[in-house]
Amino acid sequence: MKNGGDLSCVETAFEGIMRGDDVLESLIAGVNIVELDPEDTSVGYGGLPNADGVVQLDSCCMHGPKKQAGGVASLEGVRTPSLVAKAVMDYTDHHLLVGPGAQRFARNMGFDIEDDLNTERSRQQWLDWKRRIDPEHYLDPHKRTDAGHQAGMDMVREGLIREEDYYGTINCNGVNANGDVCGVTTTSGLAWKIPGRVGDSPILGAGLYVDGEIGAAGSTGRGEANLFGLCSYLIVEEMRRGQHPKDAGMEALRRIRKATIETRLLNDRGLPNFNVKFYVINRRGEHAGVSLYSPDDSYVYSVCTEHGARHERLDGLLEGSASG
Ligand code: GLY
Repeated sequence: MKNGGDLSCVETAFEGIMRGDDVLESLIAGVNIVELDPEDTSVGYGGLPNADGVVQLDSCCMHGPKKQAGGVASLEGVRTPSLVAKAVMDYTDHHLLVGPGAQRFARNMGFDIEDDLNTERSRQQWLDWKRRIDPEHYLDPHKRTDAGHQAGMDMVREGLIREEDYYGTINCNGVNANGDVCGVTTTSGLAWKIPGRVGDSPILGAGLYVDGEIGAAGSTGRGEANLFGLCSYLIVEEMRRGQHPKDAGMEALRRIRKATIETRLLNDRGLPNFNVKFYVINRRGEHAGVSLYSPDDSYVYSVCTEHGARHERLDGLLEGSASG
């Protein structure tokens, strides 16, 4: 995804870091490309909306050396929530602003507030989902949630939306030659979510955690599974104890598997029926991408170093796929 430009997210971030720019500013410049891309339905402008058809965005960022952090959740009307998260970090005494308060803050900081962040594509996809459920019945809340989830999964199976866009998120972490490590996570969250639902992405310790002396970890995938164990924090703590990024990430995935016992969340093999992925880097620049499932070559993460940008295969914890 380059939004019509020459450079991808990781190439932009790497170029900024090599120029000597602040690492976090470089990473955010990278994710801004995808947030602003109308063709990408996982984050920012044109991200898949909530159940009411409203795009609500979440993001957080952490600066390792400065030991600062900021986040926004359920933010409407601003295409680049990662920049608002950074403004929370830079200009407030707080770590997280949500909903209308976050939007008012963004307006006061000079961000453009738009009525609607849907593109024609995200609106059409929402309409398709809406047609598949019958909100008039409202049955009991559980059945309605199941119906909504089922309709979303059917759309994935029919190739109308990408599986990764259902919980679509970007996490981008980086380190420079001084060992300055930073990270940012940005998302439009779970497609067709209950309005106000916030996943892991803007929550420090869940969607992202950075310790300037150790490294960074961030996630994509089913936010609820990650929130339950604050897995990015866990991963950084595992690295503090000397674990390699891959082993630290795998430990978090094992915890998620162990904590997943509700039948509705299990496939017919008794394993989680969703995916979660972690992207992990330490201060030395060693990195890993791990995933509950990584069934084929399309399960990759992007890396950019002095040798250029490339995809690396995600290491999977479990055989097969989430569907069974
Ligand atoms: N990981 C993104 C979300 O669950 O909202």
